[in-house]
Amino acid sequence: MRIYGKISLPGDKSIAHRSIILSVISRGKTAIYNLPGNQDCLSTIRALRKLGASISKKKYNKVIISGQGIYGLTRPKMPVFIGESGTTFRLLLGVLAGQPFKVTLAAGSSLSRRPMRRVTEPLRKMGATINSKLKKSPPGAGPPTAEKIEEFPPITISGGALKGITYKMPVASAQVKSAILLAGLFAEGKTIVIEGVPTRDHTERMLRLFGAAVNPKGHRISLTGGRELKSPGKIYIPGDISSASFFIAGALILPGSHLIIKDISLNPTRMGIIKVLKRMGADIKLTKQAKGYEPVGDLVIKSSDLKATTVEKTEIPSLIDELPILMVASCFADGETRFCGVEELRVKETDRIKSMADNLRKMRANIKVIKSGKQVCISVKGGRGLKAAQVESFGDHRTAMSMVIAGLGATGKTKVSGLSCIAKSFPGFQSVLKSIIR
Ligand code: S3P
Repeated sequence: MRIYGKISLPGDKSIAHRSIILSVISRGKTAIYNLPGNQDCLSTIRALRKLGASISKKKYNKVIISGQGIYGLTRPKMPVFIGESGTTFRLLLGVLAGQPFKVTLAAGSSLSRRPMRRVTEPLRKMGATINSKLKKSPPGAGPPTAEKIEEFPPITISGGALKGITYKMPVASAQVKSAILLAGLFAEGKTIVIEGVPTRDHTERMLRLFGAAVNPKGHRISLTGGRELKSPGKIYIPGDISSASFFIAGALILPGSHLIIKDISLNPTRMGIIKVLKRMGADIKLTKQAKGYEPVGDLVIKSSDLKATTVEKTEIPSLIDELPILMVASCFADGETRFCGVEELRVKETDRIKSMADNLRKMRANIKVIKSGKQVCISVKGGRGLKAAQVESFGDHRTAMSMVIAGLGATGKTKVSGLSCIAKSFPGFQSVLKSIIR
């Protein structure tokens, strides 16, 4: 079996969320093209409609949004249900922090277990009033100090007059950075976010496209609030590199493969997967590169003999969503691959360290999870490939897609249960895969 062909993929999920949100709070009409039809982006559209946004869906992954200005949203009668989209939840909290009304955001069962204090804390500092479900540290974990209290959905937020803050990020998270910058649009004065390690910069790029006074300089992003945003008219969303990563890995590990992926987002803050795979000896070429508000290009991938590498903590944000598929690829690489500082994987849709280690161990992979203090590293001793097993998605889309690819590379017939969760980010995954398997 090999992978062969030329594909284009649905638009990048992160860029799509931002394009919808900024179109709604800008002035003018925006047509968005190549919008992915996944559940998370539909959550953003649905939630914003409940908040009074005018979004009409056209054919061929196109929507038209009539912007109402930064104060154009209206108070919903009921709590707004966000489903399972963490990006929708956290970014909308940023926007709602600036609206002069009270609203409750509710979430599905998985998102209701994901930490929100990382966003509520800076938004409170800016002046928003926020109430959430609190949970103390588990019994036996010592006295409940302030740090051990975490916040979860549902969250009620009363926005209003905000003031700019300077915020040093305690965790590398683009969602947190974005929530603060979006709130900064409504704040008096300057909002400054300082990152330890740079995270994806789609919000900064999209804010610039809408004419915001945003100024990223190294690890420091500043934004001057109190100005209206102006629609750019049209936005094309480039293909999602996170969705592409499964086919890239599949093509690398299946001998005789040759795959072209067209019009993919080549944003430098998302290129960790390509950099690391190239370091592992992958034959991946970037062609037809073009600059726009986001860089785009084609990828040409040929199957390759992979060798192990070490992925440093500072690289993790640039490939955070690709760690599950990189763990699969490293099972096929000669030597020991190490992923250092992967703690954030514990708070994704599921604990992805556990979901991937449990599954890959069933397929006879040699995986160790190494803890030292707060830091967690994963070691994969590869080179022996994988053996078929019965594995599961743990309800997580990226675990599911990674295990499908692991199954293709393994000897024997692997069964992955719980594939419906793939629709969260990439409903067309199976049909695209079928079209390139020879
Ligand atoms: C995202 C940021 C990342 C990523 C998520 C999408 C975004 O989350 O894992 O899939 O669109 O900003 P964190 O900000 O929690 O790292």
